[in-house]
Amino acid sequence: MSAADKMIAQCRKPSGLFGRLTLWEMNRHHSKLTDWGLSHVKIKKTDTILDVGCGGGRTINKLAAMASDGKVHGIDYSEESVTAAHRANTRWIDIGRVRIREGTVSQLDFADNTFDLVTAIETHLFWPDLPSDLREIYRVLRPLGTLLIVAEIYKGGRHLEGVRKQIFEKHLAANMNLLTADEHSDLFTTAGFVDVQIFEELKKGWICALGTKPYSGSVQIKPSA
Ligand SMILES: C[S@@+](CC[C@H](N)C(=O)[O-])C[C@H]1O[C@@H](n2cnc3c(N)ncnc32)[C@H](O)[C@@H]1O
Repeated sequence: MSAADKMIAQCRKPSGLFGRLTLWEMNRHHSKLTDWGLSHVKIKKTDTILDVGCGGGRTINKLAAMASDGKVHGIDYSEESVTAAHRANTRWIDIGRVRIREGTVSQLDFADNTFDLVTAIETHLFWPDLPSDLREIYRVLRPLGTLLIVAEIYKGGRHLEGVRKQIFEKHLAANMNLLTADEHSDLFTTAGFVDVQIFEELKKGWICALGTKPYSGSVQIKPSA
């Protein structure tokens, strides 16, 4: 396995010592990307939020500070990520404002209509079935809740130039979900989201996609998780 393959495998599912180092580096490297992505959503103090594919947990930390009277849940299917995210959020966990557990995006262990916001930073690239996984997120969002997906790699983005283009094109064949801006938009619309918006930070090669779950008069909103 080449060094690039190993690195992408660790981003897909961190494990062991290399996984711990990767999580530390992702917490550092994704911070500005995350701040940029979060600047596109309004977060209320009382919001109940889920961060999917939470990795090393820095996004959860930021979200808990923003939703200062709310709750933040994190899930990740990597045991190493869950351990690292716990470590990064001990003080929030101790006061009951954050909860992090192992789980897959494809089968979220939450009731329908639970969250005001679901965030997914640099993780949907690895999900097994994007249309179905977005429907699963749609299920746990409250009506008028928002899904925010952010990534620094996408088809048509600056990251897919030069050597990176060769590396990632190889991984297109290996089931990495590299979508164009329009394909992100179609994905959200097909899953049932409305007010779908796509933002690109062209110089950096970042993309942010967001959409709202429409209100349906028949849906009962559950109390906070
Ligand atoms: C590149 S890391 C990004 C982590 C973090 N969101 C960040 O911005 O630093 C991708 C994370 O998504 C997780 N992940 C990938 N596929 C997943 C899935 N199907 N369900 C849950 N988590 C997943 C990985 O275990 C990994 O921790």
